[in-house]
Parts: sequence; C-alpha cells; structure tokens
Amino acid sequence: MQVLLAAGMTPDDHLLDIGCGSLRLGHKAVPYLKPGHYWGTDASHALMRHGRLTELPDPEALPEDHLVEDAAFAFPGIPDTITFAIAFGVFTHLPHADLATALTNLRRFPNLRSALFTVFLSDAATPTRQPDGVVTHPGRPPYHLPEAQVAQTISAAGFTPARQTTLLPRGQVLWAAT
Ligand SMILES: C[S@@+](CC[C@H](N)C(=O)[O-])C[C@H]1O[C@@H](n2cnc3c(N)ncnc32)[C@H](O)[C@@H]1O
Repeated sequence: MQVLLAAGMTPDDHLLDIGCGSLRLGHKAVPYLKPGHYWGTDASHALMRHGRLTELPDPEALPEDHLVEDAAFAFPGIPDTITFAIAFGVFTHLPHADLATALTNLRRFPNLRSALFTVFLSDAATPTRQPDGVVTHPGRPPYHLPEAQVAQTISAAGFTPARQTTLLPRGQVLWAAT
C-alpha cells in the first residue's frame, strides 16, 4: 500500500494486482479503493478464492469475478479502466521472459499511469547473496537480473523505467514503468 500511495494512488484509481496470491495487498487495497476498483490475477484461483474468504474484512466488497486465474500474464477480462498495476514478489520467482510478456501486455490498458514490480538485481552470472542474506540466481528461482536489462525490458515494452529507492523486504528492488 505504501508504494502505491507514494506513487499517487487514490481511492478513485483502478488497481490490477498481478500475482495477487492470497490478497496480502488486497486485504488493504479493497477497503481503500472505491467498490469494484480492485482486480487481481494469479496462477492459482484457489489461492485467491481462499484469500477472499479468509483475509478480507468483507468478502462481499470484492466480486469473485474480479479475481482472474491467469498464468500467462494475458490479463483476460481485465477492463480498460485500470490505472495502476503492481506485481510484488512475482517476477522474483519467474524467468525474465515473463516480465517482458507482462509489460508488453500491460500496454493495452489506455489509462495505465504506472506499473510497479519488484525484482532482485545483480550483474553476476553466479549465485549472489542479497543484502539481507537471501541467495539469488541468474537461471533459477529466486532470480536476479542486471539493472540494465530491467531498464531495457521496460523501455522495449514502450514504458519509461524508474528504479525506486524504497527499501523492501529481502532486498527486492522496486521499479516503476510509466
Ligand atoms: C511470493 S507470492 C507473492 C504474492 C503477492 N503478490 C504478495 O505480495 O503477497 C508469488 C505469487 O505469484 C503467483 N504466480 C506464480 N507464477 C505465476 C504466473 N505465471 N502468473 C501469475 N501468477 C503467478 C503465485 O501463485 C503466488 O501467489
């Protein structure tokens, strides 16, 4: 919530929470946003459904069809109204090609102001110990990427990259694609 608020999100915005899992963000974002303004996607519909029933203060505040099973970052059925997207702790666990696919597919949202996501950074072709001790890898999860490659992937998708200075758990680095 803090990074979204710092990016300028207000209750009027329409949020797409990519890889939303059991609604760790959703349980705060759903009550904050105007009714119907939260959408989540995840590879696991069961995880999202469980989160809706057990984590939300009022499950009725989130229509079930706003939680969309989508492992391909195709965002099926997500409306053009989306103004912010976030993927927290998602691309840290997936090959780089998935980040490129997601960013490219986000371009279809005409009102999108910012897409925020986290990655681990390193130029190393070998395992790297991140500042808090977690070990990341160039070719298996948790993955790390060179900073220049992240910026290039954001630019190639048609966005402007901005690495954020926010300190995040486990040494993840936050990026904004605007
Ligand atoms: C570490 S969890 C983070 C969940 C949530 N964003 C949070 O901050 O609590 C990673 C999430 O990514 C989802 N995920 C993994 N592969 C995915 C894919 N290909 N498409 C969409 N979601 C995926 C997992 O099901 C899981 O919920």
